[in-house]
Amino acid sequence: MDVTVRPLAEADVDAAREVQSRAFDEHDRAFGDPVSPNTDEAIERQRRRLRHFLTHDPEGSWVATAGADVIGVALALRRGSMWGLSLLVVEPEQQSRGVGRLLLDASLTYAAGVETAIILSSRDPRAMRRYAAAGFALHPQVSASGPLDRSRLQRPGRPVRDGGPDDAAWADEIDMAVRGAPRGPDHVLLSTMFVMYVLDDADGRGYAYVRRDGRIVSVAATDDDTATALLWHALALDTDGDRTIDHINAGQQWAVDVAVAAGLRLQAAGPVFWRGRTPPLSYLPDGAYL
Ligand SMILES: CC(C)(COP(=O)(O)OP(=O)(O)OC[C@H]1O[C@@H](n2cnc3c(N)ncnc32)[C@H](O)[C@@H]1OP(=O)(O)O)[C@@H](O)C(=O)NCCC(=O)NCCS
Repeated sequence: MDVTVRPLAEADVDAAREVQSRAFDEHDRAFGDPVSPNTDEAIERQRRRLRHFLTHDPEGSWVATAGADVIGVALALRRGSMWGLSLLVVEPEQQSRGVGRLLLDASLTYAAGVETAIILSSRDPRAMRRYAAAGFALHPQVSASGPLDRSRLQRPGRPVRDGGPDDAAWADEIDMAVRGAPRGPDHVLLSTMFVMYVLDDADGRGYAYVRRDGRIVSVAATDDDTATALLWHALALDTDGDRTIDHINAGQQWAVDVAVAAGLRLQAAGPVFWRGRTPPLSYLPDGAYL
């Protein structure tokens, strides 16, 4: 099989999205996890993500092709002095033949000169192997999920308000303080797609994004108490059904405490890998936009 790795193009968006779906469906089945339904909303979210990377990070966006077929995708972003891997997938039938390695190597060319780099890994042993081999340090993670019992909700008495695109510049200051790199254009996208909460008082500053179906997207704060208040506020979102908190790493007892007090189920998840620093404490990254 002749494989070519080349920059992602607009014409690849749907093929790339389909490879992503098939690769993660297969991954979830292999690990006994529920397979995410391919709703119109999920498909639209995937398209938006690919186009966001095409616009803002063309040098971090790659596909692998065999003949006319897209058989793999890698997306990486660069914000300030930080690089992050957003997506790495290979068509299930073409896995374990070196394509993932080629794609990761291509996306890492975009990391040249950065101070820090982050990868949120799946549980796939091939992924973890390559990230560790590329000089990243592994930090274990859990996720927390389950139905929300509203009687368990805690309301720390802090002034949380709704946020939006106008808060992007303010939120970038938080990002600089928390993880050493702004989110830049990602805030505009995230605050349009998700519910944003903002907390800024004498005790600390931070923000949270939560999806309308109850999935916590990201939390970033100057200290653990502020992150805790924001996480409780995000869990209290006015919607029925389950809540999910992803990407809680081994150093984030504040988030474990909230998950346990909320009655959510903790489960081993893929690790986070960092290069150039240890994970920031009061920061739950997002799977797509870090
Ligand atoms: C993870 C993934 C992108 C890797 O791509 P791939 O083309 O299958 O992997 P490669 O063939 O490049 O192999 C990567 C490494 O794993 C090793 N490997 C191959 N098969 C393996 C197996 N069954 N178990 C453990 N390691 C294996 C390879 O030897 C290689 O290491 P090396 O370069 O040091 O020799 C791909 O398998 C995939 O899409 N998985 C599902 C989605 C996913 O989990 N993506 C990662 C998101 S963070």
